[in-house]
Amino acid sequence: MSGKDKTYNGIFISFEGIDGCGKTTQSRALQEYFRSKGREAVLTLEPGGTLIGTRIREVLLQPEHKEMSPVTELLLYNAARAQHIAEKILPELKKGTVVITDRFTDSTTAYQGYGRGMDLSLINSINDIATNGIKPDLTILLDLDPEAGLGRNKSVNKVDRFELEALAFHQKVRKGFLEIAGMERERFELIDASLPVGEVSKKIAGMVNNRYGV
Ligand code: TYD
Repeated sequence: MSGKDKTYNGIFISFEGIDGCGKTTQSRALQEYFRSKGREAVLTLEPGGTLIGTRIREVLLQPEHKEMSPVTELLLYNAARAQHIAEKILPELKKGTVVITDRFTDSTTAYQGYGRGMDLSLINSINDIATNGIKPDLTILLDLDPEAGLGRNKSVNKVDRFELEALAFHQKVRKGFLEIAGMERERFELIDASLPVGEVSKKIAGMVNNRYGV
């Protein structure tokens, strides 16, 4: 569902990028920006965003779950997403709220599709089932070299199943994000995440102001 078919007045924004690209910091800054302009904005994340989603997140990210099959992984991300859409994202959008999510369907395409090598058309179909066809109005891709991203996470001692993957895996994921962005230029804004945090925030605020007059 997008454009003229939309059944809500809110704005749906997703942040995407490799591990350690700064999505969490930048999504908080964007929420603050909207609030400073008097616009209600909710911040959420995937996997997670609901109680059920948070429980699924724990199963997905535990380092000891090494035996998880790629199909299990794909379905669990989308199970969490279906709950997220039904319980949180869609109700907020219908109230006219700005919903900012730290990761959404493009993460599945990039990690399970480009990273794990699963069939992209299968992933698109499953993503569509989970979202009921709802797509972000805007996706902000924070692009960063994986060596820099993983370095940032190591420096704060963050380790999960994905941080344990080899650098080559994260390079495939980065390439995937860039390819997806190239296919949907209207929806995506590409931002250089190697810039200082404050500069990245300013660029995002300027771009959002241009798009939405906020
Ligand atoms: P998280 O701690 O949120 O990482 P980050 O701070 O980098 O966003 O962990 C989420 C991990 O799950 C991250 O490594 C990306 C991965 N992921 C997928 O593989 N597929 C998905 O559909 C989603 C939403 C996340």
